[in-house]
Amino acid sequence: LDNGLALTPPLGWLAWERFRCITDCAAEPDSCVSEALFRAQADRMAADGYLAAGYQYIIIDDCWSSHERDAEGRLQADPDRFPSGIKALSDYVHGLGLKLGIYGDYGTYTCGGYPGSIDHMETDAQTFADWEVDYVKLDGCYSDPDSMDVGYPEFGGYLNDTGRPMVYSCSWPAYQSNPDYPAIARACNLWRNFDDIQDSWDSVASIIDFYGDHQEELIPVAGPGHWNDPDMLIVGDFGLSYEQSRAQMAVWSVLAAPLIMSVDLRTIRPEYAAILQNSAALAINQDRLGIQGRRVFQDQGMEIWRRAITPQVDEQFSYALAFLDRRTDGTPSRLTMTLRELGLDSPTGYRVQEVFDGQSYGTLLPEDSITVHVNPTGVTFLRCDLVA
Ligand code: DGJ
Repeated sequence: LDNGLALTPPLGWLAWERFRCITDCAAEPDSCVSEALFRAQADRMAADGYLAAGYQYIIIDDCWSSHERDAEGRLQADPDRFPSGIKALSDYVHGLGLKLGIYGDYGTYTCGGYPGSIDHMETDAQTFADWEVDYVKLDGCYSDPDSMDVGYPEFGGYLNDTGRPMVYSCSWPAYQSNPDYPAIARACNLWRNFDDIQDSWDSVASIIDFYGDHQEELIPVAGPGHWNDPDMLIVGDFGLSYEQSRAQMAVWSVLAAPLIMSVDLRTIRPEYAAILQNSAALAINQDRLGIQGRRVFQDQGMEIWRRAITPQVDEQFSYALAFLDRRTDGTPSRLTMTLRELGLDSPTGYRVQEVFDGQSYGTLLPEDSITVHVNPTGVTFLRCDLVA
């Protein structure tokens, strides 16, 4: 969507994967979907280095609203869990230097059973603008997927008509069997393609497979202002090991994916926070060319994912290379290849460095070979800077 926003993939935090639709604040005061939760997470984003690293959007997901619209037909926040209202929360997060995202649904109800927007699109877009929201995720439950090709652009038009810049996150293709991606890329800043992420490596692996298996269709539609969205980062939650967390961060960076954390920032362990804040990984994810990377090798459980990045000279690019070991038989894999075999053929060579450890591999020419060790269900993530 050419609205001047999301020129690099959005970075932020979204409540859903970690906090779901917890509404019983008496039983779960620290985890229920409430203004207290969003303020607490926003505080951590601002104070603990996430905002400085680039994570800017704090995004509300489902189950924030009242079951009833107000007398004027507008959405309203649940009065018990958001007693100050969304505008006050928006002011609060803006005061911290963050931006606020909110959730709606294109259909008659949200997936959690709260009011949907289908008969109130103009009103809801204006309500979000009045609250000074900066990002809108529009889900697609309780609707006819065939109508989305018209309905999602219509809602986006109403967002645009408000005059307030708002990133538009669509779930449109995730509900369709044969999405019209060029149309989706014209109408949305990002869009969910596939299943919801869950708190497990199996889920992350199935998403990685989907993006590899559909890359010929998905890569061409990604670029500045319009991104494929493989769903939230679950780094720091319960389901991924340290190695698997690096793997998710690396593959999402190669995919030019939005990096939307969903983790309790009050209790995340420091080594996981360090993965999320790794400046070299973030620099790859945020590379200004916005070229989505691809799976270039897949054999016996080893995969190589490659993304072209800056610095660039004419048709020669720098590259990020994620070596992903999908094997679980217990011992690290060793792989030796020449740079040319990896698709890096500039005669001027490349300066090669591991992203997470900072280990240098020196300056290598296309015929030089490189040996990497990759831990099981882990990644070795290289940045190869073109020598000018
Ligand atoms: C389905 C979406 O894909 C999820 O990300 C989340 O928004 C839930 N709906 C909320 O009900």
